[in-house]
Amino acid sequence: MTATTAADPKAATTRQADQVTPEFEAAIDEIVTHYPVSKRSASLPLLHYWQNTFGSVDDSGIEWIAARLELQPINIYELVTFYPWFRREAAGKTIIRVCRTLACAMAGSYEVKEKFCSAVGLDPLAEHHGFGEAPPTSADGKFSVEFVECLASCGSAPVALINNTLHEKITPESIPGIVGQYQ
Ligand code: FES
Repeated sequence: MTATTAADPKAATTRQADQVTPEFEAAIDEIVTHYPVSKRSASLPLLHYWQNTFGSVDDSGIEWIAARLELQPINIYELVTFYPWFRREAAGKTIIRVCRTLACAMAGSYEVKEKFCSAVGLDPLAEHHGFGEAPPTSADGKFSVEFVECLASCGSAPVALINNTLHEKITPESIPGIVGQYQ
């Protein structure tokens, strides 16, 4: 993790943990009550709540959640960098996740991803390494596009999860209309 120091005023003012409100803390406390046997089991729910609130999970978020669950920061950091859903950098307002597992790949998901990238002004060949890195994001900050693994809707391939909505049986021709719903 990158250490945040007092000598870095920009980093100091953008720490997510400094934006935690009493309402946020109350919501976190409520989530933790669902895991009376082991608070550590609340790690993933807390990470989801954090990312839904702040858009990503920065160092201060990792440390805040670890302290709240009486864990070490590494216990949270390893989750953020293991699960592709979590990211340490902000992504676009709309995130287009195209499935690339077998059924979708055979049904044309590689072309679908390429068309989504073109429709939102992204280089289809832009590299994305994961491990908490934000997916390629359009210059206006509106869209990010990435591949994901099976979205459990293989019978309606190819599919994409756009924010929280699943789009099924996507054709290249349908993509401008789908993107238009999120402009
Ligand atoms: S392979 Fe794409 S949803 Fe299962």
